[in-house]
Amino acid sequence: MNKNPKTEKTFTLTNDETGESFKLPVLEGTEGPPVIDIRKLYAQTGHFTFDPSFTATGSCKSRLTFIDGEKGILSHRGYHIADLAEKSSFLDVAHLLLYGDLPNTKEKEDFDNEIRYHTMVDEQVNFFYRGFRRDAHPMAIMCAVMSALSAFYHDSLDINDPEQREVSAHRLIAKVATLGAMTHKYSIGQPFMYPRNDLSFSENFLYMCFAVPAEPYKVNPVLANAMDKILILHADHEQNASTSTVRLAGSSQANPFACVGAGIASLWGPSHGGANQAVLEMLDQIGSVDKIPEFIARAKDKDDPFRLMGFGHRVYKNFDPRANVLKKACDEVLADLGVSDPRVELAMELERIALEDPYFVDRKLFPNVDFYSGIILSAMGFPTSMFTVLFAVARTVGWISQWKEMLEEPALRIGRPRQLYTGPKSRPYVDIKDRK
Ligand code: SDX
Repeated sequence: MNKNPKTEKTFTLTNDETGESFKLPVLEGTEGPPVIDIRKLYAQTGHFTFDPSFTATGSCKSRLTFIDGEKGILSHRGYHIADLAEKSSFLDVAHLLLYGDLPNTKEKEDFDNEIRYHTMVDEQVNFFYRGFRRDAHPMAIMCAVMSALSAFYHDSLDINDPEQREVSAHRLIAKVATLGAMTHKYSIGQPFMYPRNDLSFSENFLYMCFAVPAEPYKVNPVLANAMDKILILHADHEQNASTSTVRLAGSSQANPFACVGAGIASLWGPSHGGANQAVLEMLDQIGSVDKIPEFIARAKDKDDPFRLMGFGHRVYKNFDPRANVLKKACDEVLADLGVSDPRVELAMELERIALEDPYFVDRKLFPNVDFYSGIILSAMGFPTSMFTVLFAVARTVGWISQWKEMLEEPALRIGRPRQLYTGPKSRPYVDIKDRK
């Protein structure tokens, strides 16, 4: 970041009404657009900025993830997502995001074991599940049980203690997978399966989801590999809505379990992580290729709330690199399982038609990470309602890594945006007898 005042780059802001000019520093990162530092803007000009959905606002400095929306680039600490998805494990990527680099052999063994030995949850947590209806949405359960973990780990809630921050991060990465599997089991009326320490992270997750006590269960290595890849692709994504939620909650010094619970709630929305479920529901609603034009027309109709789920992205305006990797993984999983899901052909035809339509091309709407993920997860045996839970299992790594990075900043300050007030001006109180 530029520190030398002599060569400091600036923006000059002029108030056309008064003719006053204000110099604002420009800060430069290692990649991506520079930023205009407006931290002193209100003190200097008496004005706030206005950017309701943060389309042009940088909320923090971060070293974790870089996205170039025009070039379709996603990298974590400099490593491109396609390389990580092909050559690393999910826990390697977790180590990279948490500690700044891929682990060496010893670090990998130690970190894998550290996470492995945190996968069990307190036995009391089982009783939280008993209070839900079996048909409760899995994300409703996850919001609740994740936040409830705050009630169990009193020895690691001091956010000012680096060791407690670290053990909380390990607990969250390990236990969110167990909670996710328990949520699935509860929703289908099957008993919970305890974690197994002889399995890898993704093998163990699939085991806890699909094994039953009545017989041995062998994890399909192709599915375990696909699961690990899907988790890598969903691990972190810069300052998206749920990550920003976790950072804002963390800025008040709330404990990490409560912050991740807030992140799960934000991810649930169909505009965000809930889109993978919405894509499958949309494909089932479309039903056949001949119905595609009708739904494309609806997606373009401003009076129709219908949107093409799995399409579009706030940042990617060329293609979502994760979608490309997922499409390839989708073909591999379906081929290995010998499953031909008609929804794949439907999705591909929908993508082809949409990408030839000026409405989508002009607005740079391309398939995003959610467009193909649901088809793979469905082929693996997950119900649609579990898709966003799987997203949360992966994104917990990003959430807690971003949270850790924020807390390692020299001075943690509470996030507190301002507003443009458009309500009534000051007025005298009216007693109820005088109200019309
Ligand atoms: C994720 O931020 C992240 O990084 C998120 C994520 C992550 O890893 O954390 O990448 C994960 O959330 C992926 C996105 C999943 N959501 C969906 O697939 C839902 C469908 N997509 C849209 O709702 C929308 O594209 C968003 C929410 C993803 C982005 O919304 P923006 O950036 O606010 O764009 P917009 O709503 O302002 O749309 C711009 C134009 C509008 O038309 P005009 O008013 O200009 O005429 O594009 C249109 C929109 O109507 N548009 C769509 C559309 N998405 C945008 N029209 C039809 N179908 C769509 N999917």
